[in-house]
Amino acid sequence: PDAALQAAFDATIGRGDRIEPRDWMPDAYRRTLVRQIAQHAHSEIIGMQPEGAWIGRAPSLRRKAILLAKVQDEAGHGLYLYSACETLGVSRAELTELLLAGRQKYSSIFNYPTPSYADVGTIGWLVDGAAICNQVPLCRTSYGPYGRAMIRICKEESFHQRQGYELLMTMMRGTDEQRAMVQESVDRFWWPSLMMFGPPDADSPNSARSMAWGVKRNSNDELRQKFVDMTVPQAEALGVTLPDPDLRWNEERGHHDFGEPDWDELAAVIGGDGPCNAQRMAHRRAAHEDGAWVRDAATAFAERTEADR
Ligand code: 3HC
Repeated sequence: PDAALQAAFDATIGRGDRIEPRDWMPDAYRRTLVRQIAQHAHSEIIGMQPEGAWIGRAPSLRRKAILLAKVQDEAGHGLYLYSACETLGVSRAELTELLLAGRQKYSSIFNYPTPSYADVGTIGWLVDGAAICNQVPLCRTSYGPYGRAMIRICKEESFHQRQGYELLMTMMRGTDEQRAMVQESVDRFWWPSLMMFGPPDADSPNSARSMAWGVKRNSNDELRQKFVDMTVPQAEALGVTLPDPDLRWNEERGHHDFGEPDWDELAAVIGGDGPCNAQRMAHRRAAHEDGAWVRDAATAFAERTEADR
């Protein structure tokens, strides 16, 4: 490429400033942004399934209304992120095809089942809590449209985390059965929540370049550690234990030591062999096919409106 263009790009990144859609950018920078933003958008949309399953079975109108609002927010997060990705020259139709063809990913965490109502609270508390740790730094990511989408998403994610924590706190103040439901749910979701942050830094092929380009502001392990340190006191306040015998405060480090997640499990889930991968993809495919008539009608209407102008 023109050396001056590369130098201008490097200077913008070096200053910690933003790259905007009309700026020149290296193809590899564009490709890694499409990869990450598309995966993030797919995660939001697939993430509607585990919780959506509980909308019809929520125990009260209040819980149903909150859950409905949260799942609707996730759809909106997907919308902002697909829109941010489209500024890089790809269409959401293409991205949906890549997802359905298994050529793009979505977050591992949504491949776990939600058999218990307490999972609605645990997803809010742990999964949205982990998402906040991962997404707040992304508000400062070097690509403008992505960073700006993150600011709105992070505000809504805080509501998601608070409502989940409040739901669990309510159950913990209930009966022994409710307390047992919460603990059983936390036991199932703790380790998959740690895996959400990705493989260890030493096994993270994208991190070095993503950090050099200011796409990723913190490493996978840094954010995982931040999440553990943030969550331990919350678990204590809730009165639940976290299923890690190695979890303890380390005064010298000023952080909690914790056990090693099962990286083979993460690789298997990312590779499509998680408990719910087939179900999540079948549901997404069916929704896409069942919705084809809506897209066709909207396109026909737009064409007729254009013709009538
Ligand atoms: N699930 C699925 N794939 C994962 C993964 C996970 N938890 N963690 C890592 N991977 C994949 C990566 O995509 C990469 O594969 P690829 O090169 O084919 O894309 C490979 O494993 C190696 O990982 P790297 O660490 O090298 O990859 P990244 O530098 O992209 O880091 C990441 C992974 C930290 C997830 C980063 O992509 C990221 O920050 N993405 C944006 C945030 C995001 O997607 N969060 C998902 C949470 S879901 C959500 O926010 C919804 C909320 O409402 C709960």
